[in-house]
Amino acid sequence: MKKVIFLALTLILLLALAGCADTDSNNGAQSNNQGNANNMQNNVQAENPPPTAPGNDNTDENGQTKVLVAYFSATNNTAGVATAIAESLGADLYVITPEEPYTAADLDYGNDNSRTSLEMNDPDSRPAIAGSDVENMADYDIVFLGYPIWWGQAPKIISTFLEGYDFNGKTIVPFCTSGSSGIGSSATNLQGLTDNAIWLAGERFSSNVTQNSIAEWLNSLELELNAE
Ligand SMILES: Cc1cc2nc3c(=O)[nH]c(=O)nc-3n(C[C@H](O)[C@H](O)[C@H](O)COP(=O)(O)O)c2cc1C
Repeated sequence: MKKVIFLALTLILLLALAGCADTDSNNGAQSNNQGNANNMQNNVQAENPPPTAPGNDNTDENGQTKVLVAYFSATNNTAGVATAIAESLGADLYVITPEEPYTAADLDYGNDNSRTSLEMNDPDSRPAIAGSDVENMADYDIVFLGYPIWWGQAPKIISTFLEGYDFNGKTIVPFCTSGSSGIGSSATNLQGLTDNAIWLAGERFSSNVTQNSIAEWLNSLELELNAE
């Protein structure tokens, strides 16, 4: 009888020990899984870093001010000034190209019936612009706007350009070339065509202006360009 009791107790002890071992191995597996889950979470976090604070809309991803030089030029004088400005600032250049190019006869300011005379006497004239639009106009903070003076004013194609985009919050810097006239009211007369744009005082250049004079003018504007 004693032998039977001893065997029964031994069996119970063995079963109890086997149960403990099983529980330990399950715990081990659980903690390993937990470890893997933590690792996975860490990996996911590393791949998807928390979003950074939203940037100022007026700067690009490098915190730079983006500048566009847009211009119309019938006989290339304004083109020269515009190119010099763009080179000085490292700005993008956009040529406002008329769908119908201006011929010498069109530019005859001595003829009351020339194309330019008719356009400039018609407040509703909006000569069409050819080619592609400015790419990503929304990205630009400052737009230099260049044109030749025609009878003291900006050519009507400049109105077409201004009405074609949203200049809200942008700074516009007008500049022009002319035979002798100043910028006069040519730029202020354009301001009504843009909503909530900041217009700086414009500048007139002669066709033989030097790059140095242009650079001096650019410095005098004290624009925050983030450029060296
Ligand atoms: C139709 C027309 C009208 C002009 N009117 C004036 C003017 O009122 N005052 C002036 O000083 N120059 C005037 N000019 C001269 C231009 O403003 C000057 O040549 C300018 O630099 C031309 O620029 P662009 O070569 O970029 O077209 C006129 C030229 C044209 C063709």
